[in-house]
Amino acid sequence: MISIRFIAANGAITETEAEAGLSLLDAAQAAGMPLEGTCEGQMACSTCHVVIGTEWFDRLKDASEEEEDMLDLAAGVTRTSRLSCQILLSAELDGLEVHIPPESRDMQRL
Ligand code: FES
Repeated sequence: MISIRFIAANGAITETEAEAGLSLLDAAQAAGMPLEGTCEGQMACSTCHVVIGTEWFDRLKDASEEEEDMLDLAAGVTRTSRLSCQILLSAELDGLEVHIPPESRDMQRL
């Protein structure tokens, strides 16, 4: 199991464990995080946007161009923003720290 620490916008910390091979979005939703994931990993929304802890960001596989394009539409994007549906959990990510952005609504539907 991969342990993950979610930090909500209000600072509340949720520690959880998820199986390798799951997406970070699945793990976040299972832990009750408020990520809609409207398009279920099709990179057609940005409701799964999370901010990765800086010390973890470089350990992730690089984002694809499609992911970067979709991140441009997400609110509150930072240098270590990612789409959680595009991150597959693996042993190297054990202990991953993930911040849930305050604004996780789907900007495309406004
Ligand atoms: Fe839509 Fe991740 S769930 S881009």
